[in-house]
Amino acid sequence: MPASRRGSGTVTLPTGQTLAFHTRTQDEEDLPHATKKTMADHLRKYESLFTLTPQRMRMIVDAFKDTLEAGLEKHGNTVPMIPTYVFGWPTGNETGEYLAVDLGGTNLRVCLVTLQGAGRFEITQSKYRLTEDQKQEEGQKLFDFCAECLKTFIDQHVGEEPGMINLKPGEKLPLGFTFSYPCSQNRIDHGELIRWTKGFGNPNTEGHDVAEMFRKSLQKYDVPADFISLTCDTTGTLIASHYVNPKTKIGCIFGTGCNAAYMEKVANIPKIKELNIKDDAEIAINCEYGAFDSFEHEHLPRTKYDQIVDETSNKPGEQAYEKLISGRYLGEIMRLVICELIDDGVLFLGQETYKIEKSYAFDTAFLSLMESDPTDELLMIIGIFTHFFALETTLAERQFFRALAKLIGRRAARLSACGIAAIVSKMGYLDEGCAVGADGSLYNKYPGFADRVHEGLIDVFGDKGRNIVTYHAEDGSGVGSAIIAAMTKARKEKGLYTHV
Ligand code: BGC
Repeated sequence: MPASRRGSGTVTLPTGQTLAFHTRTQDEEDLPHATKKTMADHLRKYESLFTLTPQRMRMIVDAFKDTLEAGLEKHGNTVPMIPTYVFGWPTGNETGEYLAVDLGGTNLRVCLVTLQGAGRFEITQSKYRLTEDQKQEEGQKLFDFCAECLKTFIDQHVGEEPGMINLKPGEKLPLGFTFSYPCSQNRIDHGELIRWTKGFGNPNTEGHDVAEMFRKSLQKYDVPADFISLTCDTTGTLIASHYVNPKTKIGCIFGTGCNAAYMEKVANIPKIKELNIKDDAEIAINCEYGAFDSFEHEHLPRTKYDQIVDETSNKPGEQAYEKLISGRYLGEIMRLVICELIDDGVLFLGQETYKIEKSYAFDTAFLSLMESDPTDELLMIIGIFTHFFALETTLAERQFFRALAKLIGRRAARLSACGIAAIVSKMGYLDEGCAVGADGSLYNKYPGFADRVHEGLIDVFGDKGRNIVTYHAEDGSGVGSAIIAAMTKARKEKGLYTHV
């Protein structure tokens, strides 16, 4: 009789699903599994494909830095370096009640944020998961859904008690809209969608002013909200993080998508010269650097799996950097490697593999779970393969999967470090050092992601890389958006640059 083992437990996935496993597996049973040696040989091959040397990282950083600078020179570049019309840092004393609507990659959130000053705030919120259909339906319908959810939220939260919305008849609450897709902005309450990212494809939205579309929906549902500012999650992250930690100079998201924002002197943004803003004023720049190396693919180390991810996406050629890094794609990269080994007859011979052969069936959360499996037998990995894909695995295979997840996750973190390093190097932050507020599912939930980013920064900059420290950011899309609305209201009331 072959040796058998039992393991059981539960784990909650980011999707909210609970995965319970109670498993019995056999290593040396009748199914023809790959040998330990075969798996080790394959691993070596993937190691060389997914490993990024310090030298290669430095080359990427140099090209990245040039791209950022070019984006400030003229309009329409692939990495658009968008001036957001958020002028300078918050004082920390912004106060008042604000609504924030956050349309991110995965959820819609509606929030009531009470800014209390001195870097303090309170937030009440409701979250709605977006379906795949909602990401493809008519654009105006998506904004209608946002307005409808906001209306329901307001109706539920109007009242006298603390944490409730205190509304007099006819009164409107100021609203910050966080729309985390690249938009070119002429003013802070305007934004023309350049392109959908993160798998969205809603028709009749690209090339349109999404602020105007949302305002139309707010009117339709008679929502008592005064649209003040359109912002993206990274700009929000930059501002919210600075509100509580003034050492922050960069805000980043490593989640379903990836991006960064930082503060730039107007003198260094030649493309907005005609706006007559003082040279020494500062404006937050939404880099939209997930688009780095798009179309041309000159600088990033793309494997054939990355190319397949790209070619089969709804936006081939676009978001080249994001596709190597972000949570939307890492699981798919791993799945494609596994499928190649199935096709080559290395894995799962004699087993039904159709479940794992379905595109995007392999959640990026599985990579985190595999890397953090604490058991010698890798019971979590048994659970994932049996529960989701009805596949039996041997210990040698599970060790291989864990090592592969580590290669893909580590490459993502090291490439993430390159984007941060490019901003640091462009802005000359290395000697004095800076704090980087970072948010998103990868940064917050992937084990060791932040440590690997820090290691990457040291590989790029040597010991001085230790001066750049990332930390878990404040909620940029809710609190950040509210602070930006507060700053914008105050700026306009003072009559400062009211044209933008
Ligand atoms: C979007 C950015 C966003 C980032 C993180 C990217 O796909 O283009 O606007 O900041 O994802 O959510």
